[in-house]
Amino acid sequence: MTTRKGIILAGGSGTRLHPITEGVSKQLLPIYDKPMIYYPLTVLMLAGIREIAVITTPHDQDQFRRALGDGARWGVALDYIVQEKPEGLAQAYVLADGFLGGAPSAMVLGDNIFFGHGLPELMAGAPEAGGTVFGYHVADPERYGVVDFAPDGTVQSIVEKPARAPSNYAVTGLYFLDGTAPERARDVTPSERGELEITTLLETYLADGSLRVEKMGRGYAWLDTGTHTSLLDAGNFVRTLQQRQGLQAGCPEEVAYQQGWIDADAVAAMADRYGKTEYGTYLGKLLDPTR
Ligand code: DAU
Repeated sequence: MTTRKGIILAGGSGTRLHPITEGVSKQLLPIYDKPMIYYPLTVLMLAGIREIAVITTPHDQDQFRRALGDGARWGVALDYIVQEKPEGLAQAYVLADGFLGGAPSAMVLGDNIFFGHGLPELMAGAPEAGGTVFGYHVADPERYGVVDFAPDGTVQSIVEKPARAPSNYAVTGLYFLDGTAPERARDVTPSERGELEITTLLETYLADGSLRVEKMGRGYAWLDTGTHTSLLDAGNFVRTLQQRQGLQAGCPEEVAYQQGWIDADAVAAMADRYGKTEYGTYLGKLLDPTR
């Protein structure tokens, strides 16, 4: 059992996806057949985390409560925290300080989609002390926080959206930090664009020699949903995969059942709730040991 708590950061203005995000929060948009936030939620569940805070804008919180409830149907406890203004990723730790109560945490961005065999083991390798983040090879690193490696392969810095990227390794939106993250975040000063940058917080761990940057290999998919095109690509990726395998990606009921957090009756109740939809049929099949 992990003592780690989870944070899903799902605020932000979503302006890059206007006009679709004028009426609905970005992290509730569909990625093929389910809300975007299901995918990062299941990532935290796969890390064994059952206490999770969902950080949203003030006006979107109700939508998230409707979509996710208190988490009991998945055997997890969801808390909701408001971020008044999108003042940066590191601010999440200041806002979640009371919720964390000194515990180590895993924070995932509500718009990050991860897929790959071995993800639970990769996450389980993150020690409770210090910080662990994942570097992922991308074609367009300038759009992200980027890892700057020294010639001997050690990490010398992490730079946010550099004009010229020092490597192709972007830092994914999944951060395992110890219980000191909130106090460190409080000392972060806003960047030129006025945000409390996650990279600045990570740099404090790097300065202490307590940041691990693990490469997330090419066997994983880390998908972006930041533009209309990448949003559609992510949906198509999930559709292709699910159609071929007949297995769901990002299904919280399935993960909860596998983890032993909910029983067969609870799965059956959810299958009933979704009736004849593909999702409902899938949940029904989970209970068939011969499938
Ligand atoms: O996706 C990984 C990248 O996420 C990292 O490589 C970067 O280091 C990190 O800064 C971040 O970059 P983005 O450009 O994707 O950040 P963005 O401002 O788009 O915010 C990411 C998500 O977090 C987005 O869905 C909105 C939400 N958010 C953002 C801010 C700034 C909040 O909930 N609150 C905020 O204050």
